[in-house]
Amino acid sequence: MTHRLSNTFGKSTVTTEKREKLVRSIFNRVAGRYDLMNDLMSMGTHRLWKRKFCKQAANASSGHIFVDLAGGTGDIARALLDGQREVIIIDPSIAMMRIAENRLGSQCKYLAGAAENIPLPDNSIDLLTISFGIRNTTDISKSLQEIFRVLKPGGHFYCLEFSTPHAWLRPFYDAWSRIVIPRLGALIAGHPDAYTYLIESIREFPAQQEMAGMIRDTGFQNVSYSNLSFGIACIHRAQKNL
Ligand SMILES: C[S@@+](CC[C@H](N)C(=O)[O-])C[C@H]1O[C@@H](n2cnc3c(N)ncnc32)[C@H](O)[C@@H]1O
Repeated sequence: MTHRLSNTFGKSTVTTEKREKLVRSIFNRVAGRYDLMNDLMSMGTHRLWKRKFCKQAANASSGHIFVDLAGGTGDIARALLDGQREVIIIDPSIAMMRIAENRLGSQCKYLAGAAENIPLPDNSIDLLTISFGIRNTTDISKSLQEIFRVLKPGGHFYCLEFSTPHAWLRPFYDAWSRIVIPRLGALIAGHPDAYTYLIESIREFPAQQEMAGMIRDTGFQNVSYSNLSFGIACIHRAQKNL
């Protein structure tokens, strides 16, 4: 069964094909302002979340072939580099990856591709990370199946994504999302629609337990999660069976 996110864009219901086009066009348009917007919208917190996420992911794997799916401007890949590992960034947006390439050059490899159809052979990757990316795919289950396919037996999957905050935080979080974020999007990035999409996609994204269930249903083992900033974001971890 496909998730509701497959057929929505902001407040509109659209076909999956149309959603894919709209999402891709957003990241191509905001690429140049993406990092600045992240800092402003999260007041820098995304950097702390990403640092924790990368530390946990890198510690989990003793392998050498790492993929950062939906790698965008390269924050995660940069933190995973240690001079020995092969780190591959995959993203459908060339504009986003160009920024990563300007920052990281030949330290990484860059592949144009989407989570629903990862351009890699079966059983080839030791660690796959995806940070604030899976929400943008058109089919979360298909993306999870693809992630499972490309991981080696014993390989690790780490996902960082917005999630469902604790109840007491929700009124403040909703106000920040509804009032501040679209205005910042208009002012800084010049694209309020992109940031309305962001809020709606976060609202529709499966909560912690549901996401853990989807990962388990794909066939992963050792599925666990931990909340960041009272559930505003969440790290899900899983392993492909040996
Ligand atoms: C919010 S950005 C996250 C970038 C980076 N991972 C980070 O944490 O800063 C989402 C990224 O997902 C990419 N994306 C959109 N649709 C995708 C898909 N179907 N498969 C993989 N990546 C996708 C976008 O191009 C964009 O670079």
